[in-house]
Amino acid sequence: MVDHVIESLSLSDDHLMRLSSKMSQELVRGLHQSTNDEAEIKMLPSFVTSTPDGSENGEFLALDLGGTNFRIILVKIQSGDSPKIQMDNQVYAISNELMTGTGTQLFDHMVNCLWDFLVERDMMCQLLPIGFTFSFPTKNLGIKQTILVNWSKGFTATGVVGEDIGQLLNDAINRKFKNFELKIMATVVNDTVGTLVSCAFDHHDTCMGLIVGTGTNMCYMEAQSNIELLNNHKTLEGEMCINTEWGAFGDNSGALDEIKTSYDIDIDRNSPNVGQHIFEKMISGMYMGELARLIIVDLSNKGHLFQSIDSNSLFYKSGFSTAFVSQILHSFPSIWCFNKINFVIVTKEINKKLCCYICESLSIRAASLCAIGVIAVARKIIEHRGQRHLVVGVDGSVYRKHPTFKSLLINTTHRLAPELNIDFQLSTDGSGRGAALVAAVESRIQHIVTQ
Ligand code: GLC
Repeated sequence: MVDHVIESLSLSDDHLMRLSSKMSQELVRGLHQSTNDEAEIKMLPSFVTSTPDGSENGEFLALDLGGTNFRIILVKIQSGDSPKIQMDNQVYAISNELMTGTGTQLFDHMVNCLWDFLVERDMMCQLLPIGFTFSFPTKNLGIKQTILVNWSKGFTATGVVGEDIGQLLNDAINRKFKNFELKIMATVVNDTVGTLVSCAFDHHDTCMGLIVGTGTNMCYMEAQSNIELLNNHKTLEGEMCINTEWGAFGDNSGALDEIKTSYDIDIDRNSPNVGQHIFEKMISGMYMGELARLIIVDLSNKGHLFQSIDSNSLFYKSGFSTAFVSQILHSFPSIWCFNKINFVIVTKEINKKLCCYICESLSIRAASLCAIGVIAVARKIIEHRGQRHLVVGVDGSVYRKHPTFKSLLINTTHRLAPELNIDFQLSTDGSGRGAALVAAVESRIQHIVTQ
């Protein structure tokens, strides 16, 4: 029974490469005008066409909403031969009530936090360009017009889907700051885009931005002439960053149907966005702990694990977070997990070791799926850039904190596609520093001078 579960989570290299080809097809379907409507990977143009060149200068604000926290960051950039960045940031909680209440409450709360932040720093009357990292699927109609396509990651705040996020923020700012003449119009960016731009500040070959945290997603630099969704795309030169929203891979194409386990089906059925973001539900931190819990409870109910389970813990939905997966893997090096003989002879430790084995299998599956996505996107970039060094800027709690995810992802990518010259670089605070850098690059392009 246990072996059967573990086997259902294992994917052969051949199978992974087939999935990678399927992902490549879906990327193309998303880019083409005639297939974009029904394509599951939406390939959203970000209108970010340039990465930092070292001449950015001044003070910028970044706002970051993407999970259970909201962050405000003041970023000071000094241009020069070796440009410097200083950051001052503060984190504010976003309660479940705010995530699921009205959009007005959510945006008013964020602006109240902004007010406190500026008052504490004696900066009330200053007009600073804002980069707003909004880590949800959005459609950009221009650099200053960003429409929310649908919520993800447990957010359901009303009156926001279909609306212009920058405008909602601006309206809330005007409600709160009515006595001040602040004409702030935020540049809204996805967290992947901030991750790419922040990494590009340090590594000029950065052309992909990957997040593996609460959710997972990838953006990359595409030739504008390939982006049919842009008017006059055929005559456009240069590149533009595309937010793939790859979390939706498998939503309509059925590409992941044959690898879905009954636990994946359960996770989806009990999620707030049923049928959506199936790929993300197999990879990201919001679901990995819950997947492990479902497997452990099922095996225990069938008499294969634990004699009894504390009914205050594991029987509850979300009673097992992804941080526990990391802790279990920390305390049991993987060599123990894969030594099946240990399971039989060290009976005292059997529960812990089986849990570890389950967590490791889920982690390998998550990292392998992520790797096939990286390979598909890298191949897409090579089509217009040619074969060369590709840097992926990466961020997210799973990538940073999970003890084996990072090496699993890197090793699997290199094993499956040794011909690609791909480097993974931890991106420094993409959603803070990166968003401010996007605002700075935008200001540079528009010749706005701050401080
Ligand atoms: C979800 C969001 C996406 C974001 C990702 C990582 O997939 O839809 O926009 O980039 O999470 O935070």
